[in-house]
Amino acid sequence: MKMSRFAAAITAAMLLAAAPCWGKVSQSTRECLSCHADLMPGIVTQWQSSTHWQAGVGCFECHQAKKGEPDAMDHNGFWVATIVSPRDCGRCHEREAAEQEASHHAAAGDILNSKDGLLGQTVGGEPAVAVGCRQCHGSIVKTNADGTLDPATWPNTGIGRVNPDGSRGTCSACHTRHRFDKAQARKPEVCGKCHLGPDHPQIEVYRESKHGILYEAYKDELNMDRPKWVPGQDYFDAPTCATCHMSATATEPVTHDVGDRLSWNLRAPVSKRTRNWKKKLAGMESVCKSCHGDNFVAGFYTQLDNFVALYNDKFAVPAKEIRKLLMDKDVISKANFDDKIDWIYWELWHHEGRRARHGAAMSGPDYAWWHGIYDVAKHFYTEMLPEAEEACKKAGKPEVYEEILDRYIKNDPRHEWFVKGFDPKRVKAIKEYYQKRYQQKVD
Ligand code: HEC
Ligand code: HEC
Ligand code: HEC
Ligand code: HEC
Ligand code: HEC
Ligand code: HEC
Ligand code: HEC
Ligand code: HEC
Repeated sequence: MKMSRFAAAITAAMLLAAAPCWGKVSQSTRECLSCHADLMPGIVTQWQSSTHWQAGVGCFECHQAKKGEPDAMDHNGFWVATIVSPRDCGRCHEREAAEQEASHHAAAGDILNSKDGLLGQTVGGEPAVAVGCRQCHGSIVKTNADGTLDPATWPNTGIGRVNPDGSRGTCSACHTRHRFDKAQARKPEVCGKCHLGPDHPQIEVYRESKHGILYEAYKDELNMDRPKWVPGQDYFDAPTCATCHMSATATEPVTHDVGDRLSWNLRAPVSKRTRNWKKKLAGMESVCKSCHGDNFVAGFYTQLDNFVALYNDKFAVPAKEIRKLLMDKDVISKANFDDKIDWIYWELWHHEGRRARHGAAMSGPDYAWWHGIYDVAKHFYTEMLPEAEEACKKAGKPEVYEEILDRYIKNDPRHEWFVKGFDPKRVKAIKEYYQKRYQQKVD
């Protein structure tokens, strides 16, 4: 029986209704979906929840590649690449890609010519570098002849990944695929994958700060899914990592260079000002002033700058120079990590000294003091100096230790307690205080 035109129209409409609604996606992407909708329902559903889906940006628009590119795969009639690099995203998001390319994040894959690298590769071992360092810093992705990715170097979403097209970085380090959702990237947990632990505990510091406490209390009221997200306009209660380091303020644009608002380098052995630091400081102050008064913000920076000066001048510079003097006088070798004092010095600045400075910069008092300057001071006085003395004795050069004491300790009022003891007047006052406060006798 011949189908009437009316019946044919009905059937076509029913077929259309039964087919998934792919919105305004391209013909090429529809072909990807004809296989991938069943193959990878997770990826496809995430993508369908994204702004990209709404804008008609599909599988093909991101994963397309040109024949001859190192990671191009001949794939069911298409040339595609698995990695969608910052350069690929940058075809549509030029500004974000350029800013991230100029940032320290993009340079983070280039780490092995450092003391950390010596530790990772030689003291530890290469497999530990792959699942440790490189998962945060980024791998150097290698390709096979057919364009597939070398499994020793991928999966990896390290922040400074070196991609097959030569670009550096991974947008999905923060914008988890395949939603690529701004709201998700504004949350502190995103940064906490990498910014934690004994040598850069930013997420721990944040959690103990008033800001982190307020974030926990009011995270449902911060309107993180708004297109524009400006403190003092769209939300009021708490800043996140993104608020201070990336998001817009009433006067500053969004930046994908996370160094744009830093006036100090707080991870170096001795802290130094960054290039163009006054401008960067003004950028950060504009964040604070969205919620705080001018005097409050000036007070915060006075305390931070004083703290950095204390760390630098009292501990970091002397520790660095003492180690160098021991090397110059052939008391210890000039190589890294082969003398006990190398390790003491390393932890002093790389772990304890960083924790202290990060605690001070982001209002985490426990990190500024107990995990910070307390540890720095304890190890300076009870490990570094005694080890220097021991090493001089062993080398038959006790006069070198005398020189260290004369130069750095005896004539510096901040250190002289170490050789002269505490001021007897203070000791007496402390005893009297305890007696009065706890009715206790103190020795
Ligand atoms: C004829 C079916 C078919 C079509 C059409 C198709 N794919 Fe695939 N694709 C597959 C299969 C099968 C796999 C392997 C699945 C697995 O690893 O579980 C795959 C894997 C992939 C991978 C992962 C490769 C890897 O190395 O892990 C990507 C990326 C991909 N496809 C993208 C696309 C894109 C983009 C399109 C459209 C331009 C597309 N595919 C079209 C069937 C298809
Ligand atoms: C906005 C760009 C974008 C769109 C749209 C997109 N992808 Fe991806 N896709 C990525 C990025 C980024 C990665 C991560 C690769 C990397 O590390 O750079 C990825 C990874 C993948 C992978 C490998 C990872 C895994 O978990 O196996 C597959 C497969 C894949 N995409 C399939 C698809 C399919 C199918 C679609 C369409 C439904 C799609 N992608 C749409 C950007 C995109
Ligand atoms: C073919 C063009 C195109 C490509 C390629 C592309 N995007 Fe997009 N992207 C868009 C459009 C269009 C929008 C929606 C309009 C807007 O907000 O600019 C968007 C929006 C976004 C948003 C905002 C989402 C939100 O919550 O509002 C993010 C984040 C994003 N893209 C990241 C990426 C990343 C990361 C890549 C690469 C893995 C990428 N895009 C690749 C076109 C593209
Ligand atoms: C948990 C993630 C993570 C791991 C694992 C990790 N790093 Fe890092 N690394 C970071 C972060 C985050 C910073 C930046 C700290 C800051 O600015 O406070 C950093 C900083 C550095 C720096 C200083 C860069 C500069 O510009 O001053 C070097 C060098 C470095 N890491 C090398 C390594 C090496 C080598 C390994 C392995 C032996 C390693 N890292 C393991 C996250 C990590
Ligand atoms: C360190 C984490 C991080 C990385 C890496 C990152 N982004 Fe973002 N991105 C964010 C945050 C946070 C926001 C939201 C800023 C705000 O509050 O408006 C954002 C916003 C965006 C937006 C929306 C811009 C707007 O004004 O609406 C786009 C597009 C985007 N990112 C693209 C990219 C691309 C492309 C890359 C890689 C070149 C990338 N991002 C890498 C954290 C990141
Ligand atoms: C995948 C790991 C990773 C993620 C996620 C990550 N970072 Fe980083 N970040 C690093 C590493 C590694 C460095 C050190 C880079 C270097 O100097 O070589 C760094 C450095 C920084 C710096 C110092 C920049 C400078 O110019 O000195 C800031 C600030 C920063 N990150 C903030 C953030 C914020 C905010 C987020 C979340 C929105 C974030 N990061 C997400 C790994 C990460
Ligand atoms: C209230 C604002 C604020 C919040 C929230 C905040 N930071 Fe910071 N951050 C700062 C300030 C201020 C500095 C020091 C700025 C300077 O150098 O002048 C800083 C410094 C840093 C540095 C540079 C350290 C170095 O080695 O030089 C990193 C990395 C960093 N923050 C990451 C993070 C991460 C990750 C989070 C969230 C877990 C976070 N910040 C939350 C304000 C903030
Ligand atoms: C989105 C709003 C917001 C932003 C942005 C913001 N803060 Fe806060 N901050 C608060 C609130 C709310 C409190 C809690 C006040 C209280 O203690 O009752 C607070 C508390 C503080 C405290 C007191 C910490 C304590 O333990 O008593 C300091 C210091 C501080 N902020 C510094 C800063 C600095 C520096 C910046 C910029 C780098 C900044 N804030 C950005 C909202 C903000």
